Amino acid sequence: MSQAKHAPIIIAMTGASGAPYALRLIQRLAAQKIELHLLISNAARVVLDKESNFILSADLEQMPQQIADFLQIDASLLTCWGEKDWMSPVASGSADMKDMVVVPCSMGSLARIATGASSNLIERATDVMMKERKNLVLVPRETPFSAIHLSHMLSLTQMGVRIVPAMPGFYHQPKSIEDLVDFMVDRIMDHIGVDDGGALRWGLGAPKAA
Ligand SMILES: Cc1cc2nc3c(=O)[nH]c(=O)nc-3n(C[C@H](O)[C@H](O)[C@H](O)COP(=O)(O)O)c2cc1C
Repeated sequence: MSQAKHAPIIIAMTGASGAPYALRLIQRLAAQKIELHLLISNAARVVLDKESNFILSADLEQMPQQIADFLQIDASLLTCWGEKDWMSPVASGSADMKDMVVVPCSMGSLARIATGASSNLIERATDVMMKERKNLVLVPRETPFSAIHLSHMLSLTQMGVRIVPAMPGFYHQPKSIEDLVDFMVDRIMDHIGVDDGGALRWGLGAPKAA
């Protein structure tokens, strides 16, 4: 039986290493025809260039088509918002968004999210998700973690935020970087309740669909 269509999801990319995780997540969610609100920090655009050779325009009107062309997905599913776009639905609890993922999540954004700084739309949207008791998933990436990073993660998890660190496992014997990226994307998708049939699950054999 096919799943009911999932509500729109907010995906924020910040300037930590790990842009391929975000790109693959967007690609797999778009393949499920899920509408996505994309918030991409300036630092995330720098990392996208460094890690994926993807030079993303700062022009919000061009962004959806540029991302769609890069990932071979339907641009009509994507809406991109700027860092001060306070008119965006994601800035208010009244929009009733159900799920948000910050992937990758920099330590700077983590700190501002943990302390409710709300100085840009990514932080405001996360603040809304927390105050509305909605599903917020953070994918932090740094090594090693300092006591500051760890204490922010502890306080966030105590508030119900899901901390899904970018720490792929090796027990599925990955053959490629894509396998490692998909391992993390499988876990992120589990935490937003989207099953595209492609997730590797321990003890359950090969995925139903790739
Ligand atoms: C190539 C590159 C890799 C980076 N990797 C990390 C990282 O893994 N974790 C992190 O917290 N910051 C990382 N940074 C630094 C952040 O981009 C920087 O702190 C930035 O101010 C974060 O801004 P944002 O949270 O608004 O996106 C990296 C920067 C660059 C250019």
